[in-house]
Amino acid sequence: MKKAVSLFLVLILSMAMLVSFAACSSTPAEPPEGGWENPEDDTGRPVNESAKALVVYFSVPDNLDNSYVEVDGERLGNTQYMAYVIQENTGANIFRILPTVPYPTDHDALLAAAQEERRTDARPEMEGTIENFDSYDVVFVGYPNWNADMPNILYTFFETYDFSGKTIVPFNTHGGSGFSGTQQTIAQLEPGATMLEGKSISRNRLKAFRSRRSCEKFAAQPNTKKRSVL
Ligand SMILES: Cc1cc2nc3c(=O)[nH]c(=O)nc-3n(C[C@H](O)[C@H](O)[C@H](O)COP(=O)(O)O)c2cc1C
Repeated sequence: MKKAVSLFLVLILSMAMLVSFAACSSTPAEPPEGGWENPEDDTGRPVNESAKALVVYFSVPDNLDNSYVEVDGERLGNTQYMAYVIQENTGANIFRILPTVPYPTDHDALLAAAQEERRTDARPEMEGTIENFDSYDVVFVGYPNWNADMPNILYTFFETYDFSGKTIVPFNTHGGSGFSGTQQTIAQLEPGATMLEGKSISRNRLKAFRSRRSCEKFAAQPNTKKRSVL
């Protein structure tokens, strides 16, 4: 009987420790003084005055090792890395979607923020606007998979810009869920656009995308493989 009681106590104690550890690790970090800050936009990237293609992307490298790629000492978000490779191989212009209120770069806090946006079906405000949006025929649109969907700010983006007559090439990075059907969502949000299949890459295999051939094949898709995903 005594043995059973002490076993029971040990069990309760271990459960209490587990619960307190879980609570600890899932508590979002406090924002730094003055709040979280947005990263740099892409105004320093090359601009091609005659470009007919544009790369638009959203990316939030957080403090988890697999959420960013280090290139020449610079830390890029996974989707940002993909966006740069596409731009370098297509001569497109580039625009980074940034929120007016910056997202946390602490992973747990970012998860909590994204869940709250999903719960409230939020439309986070974007900073800045795309110049001469009408002049582009092809728009590559990149985003990370967040909770088996696009981040809510992508809904803001697609509701802000009219893609009628344009070709959309989606690309995304993810931790295992791929596109999660977001190509279909975009096609529904932009019924006047031609929606291509695009490219989804696991964050664990991202570096392979630097291969010029794989990128060129993907970038050439608008000319060679015009097919709707619907
Ligand atoms: C808030 C949040 C939610 C996520 N949800 C998913 C998910 O549902 N499925 C998945 O495969 N990956 C998910 N991920 C992993 C990201 O898609 C992946 O790390 C991505 O490469 C991050 O891209 P970024 O560095 O450009 O922001 C999530 C990441 C975050 C921060």
